[in-house]
Amino acid sequence: MPLVTTTEMFKKAYEGGYAIGAFNVNNMEIVQGITEAARDLNAPLILQVSKGARAYANHTYLVKLVEAAAIECPNIPIALHLDHGPDFETCKSCIDGGFTSVMIDLSSKSFEENIEGTKKVVEYAHDHGVVVEAELGTLAGVEDDVKVSAEDSSYTRPEEVEEFVAKTGCDSLAIAIGTSHGAYKFTADQCTRNEKGILVPPPLRFDVLEEVSKRLPGFPIVLHGSSSVPQDYVKMINDNGGKMPDAVGIPEEQLRKAASLSVCKINIDSDLRLAMTGTIRQFFNEHPDKFDPREYLKPARANIKELVKHKITDVLGCDGKA
Ligand code: G3H
Ligand code: 13P
Ligand code: ZN
Repeated sequence: MPLVTTTEMFKKAYEGGYAIGAFNVNNMEIVQGITEAARDLNAPLILQVSKGARAYANHTYLVKLVEAAAIECPNIPIALHLDHGPDFETCKSCIDGGFTSVMIDLSSKSFEENIEGTKKVVEYAHDHGVVVEAELGTLAGVEDDVKVSAEDSSYTRPEEVEEFVAKTGCDSLAIAIGTSHGAYKFTADQCTRNEKGILVPPPLRFDVLEEVSKRLPGFPIVLHGSSSVPQDYVKMINDNGGKMPDAVGIPEEQLRKAASLSVCKINIDSDLRLAMTGTIRQFFNEHPDKFDPREYLKPARANIKELVKHKITDVLGCDGKA
């Protein structure tokens, strides 16, 4: 089937108490690993492309890779989404160029500027049959070339969400409840340590999520920064020449709980990067004589597929929902 918007998938996800996985794509092997997992599990899917991905791989290549995946997986709905669109021009270029969904991220601007800029994108997008995700509140961590420290991050203020959604007309809203971008989501002093010495992050602010949902009944909420930073892959990286001390993510049980509430889209990127990098590092360590990229990209793609299958089944709960 052709690429779809997220409207229908979010409606079903909200009613069904599950979430759709939104996975970032940057090359063919990542697209294949993710889409093969969703196809095998009959799961709806969002593939998302950041500004950095467009700069790396080129808009046309990425759109054509995703369109190829939709041809190869005809039975599952796939949406193509712009992740963290920084301005109107970037959103317009994606709306005109085959995307079915865009995010306009003006969360670092004032409330009024965020409303004004988001509304402009919504009007253009809706005129072209494309849906829009907006953001209120600021996540910590690194996204594209922007780094937000924990001190500069701020939770979404529930008292602002009704006015924001009513004035902008956005179709979904990303909120900040304590998730964070990247593989180093929390500093050691924000965490406690468990008996194995692994950092345990502070719990997500479900009170903020519940208050937002009460004010926006039936409205799809989005969580960014939702990688769990699997410790097996962090270890694989560190055992094979890498150096990633104290990388820590969001516990999967908390994401599952969010998916059962009003969260309809959960963004996962760093976990796939860890799986790919760990697999390739281990391959080179074990096979120092090999130099054919197909030989190391093949197990990397296979591990991305396994990881996405796990997320779909155990975290998002969207298996069989296509
Ligand atoms: O939130 C950001 C995503 O993980 C995309 O990362 O800007 O490095 O492509 P990127
Ligand atoms: P992670 O860095 O936790 O994978 O978050 C990805 C994301 O939010 C993309 O927009
Ligand atoms: Zn994000």
